[in-house]
Amino acid sequence: MTAGFTGNTAVKDIVVTHPETRVVLERLGIDYCCGGKTPLTQAAQHAGVSVDQVLAELDRALEAGRSSDSAEDWTAASATELADHIERTHHVFMKEQLPRLVGLLDKTLRAHGPRHGDMLKQLQHSLTALRTDIELHLAKEEQILFPFIRQIEAWQQGGGPVPEMHCGTVANPIGQMEFEHDQAGEILARIRAITSDFRLPEDACETFRALYDGLREMESDLHEHIHLENNILFPKAIEVEAQTPR
Ligand SMILES: [Fe+2]
Ligand SMILES: [Fe+2]
Repeated sequence: MTAGFTGNTAVKDIVVTHPETRVVLERLGIDYCCGGKTPLTQAAQHAGVSVDQVLAELDRALEAGRSSDSAEDWTAASATELADHIERTHHVFMKEQLPRLVGLLDKTLRAHGPRHGDMLKQLQHSLTALRTDIELHLAKEEQILFPFIRQIEAWQQGGGPVPEMHCGTVANPIGQMEFEHDQAGEILARIRAITSDFRLPEDACETFRALYDGLREMESDLHEHIHLENNILFPKAIEVEAQTPR
């Protein structure tokens, strides 16, 4: 028993109610974003760790979390505040990091092609696919979904004309965004598999190291980003829309 958590608790409920547990789940390889609805026992099994170990580590994180304020709780924020935060931090991060990582990978491939060319080319294929998908995905959120979320919330708070969504209900673009999150999650898992969990070869140079460090950091950031959208922002937007008259 950890803060009322059991093996049956959905992973997203753990990280939504106690954001300080996110780093533990990330470190243990437990999917809390795309697969957030999965019960902890099943998610732990999938990650190859025992549920008892996970519960014990969550306990320690909760203890430490009480004395530090490292993880922000977004459940009380408005949908607009959260959408603004996601754009300012996670979207900016991806737009900066993806081109930087592609550049580091090109450089690594030039230096290590003879010995690690096959692996690095597979990595290049996946990273390029991720960049293309994510850049388009961020644009859709920034140009269509997030403005609509801000509009319906502004309507709810101040009245005025009821916002029109040309693609029907907000659940439609949200469903599409969640589908794209699953695809991005799959590419991240592939990148992890290709790099053997970011294990550097013995002859790796500093560029190789910077590439793997950057990929690991991007994976963690994208997991947090998807978690904030799937588990907090999107349910909030659906709830706000349900209160607008039709
Ligand atoms: Fe996003
Ligand atoms: Fe997204």
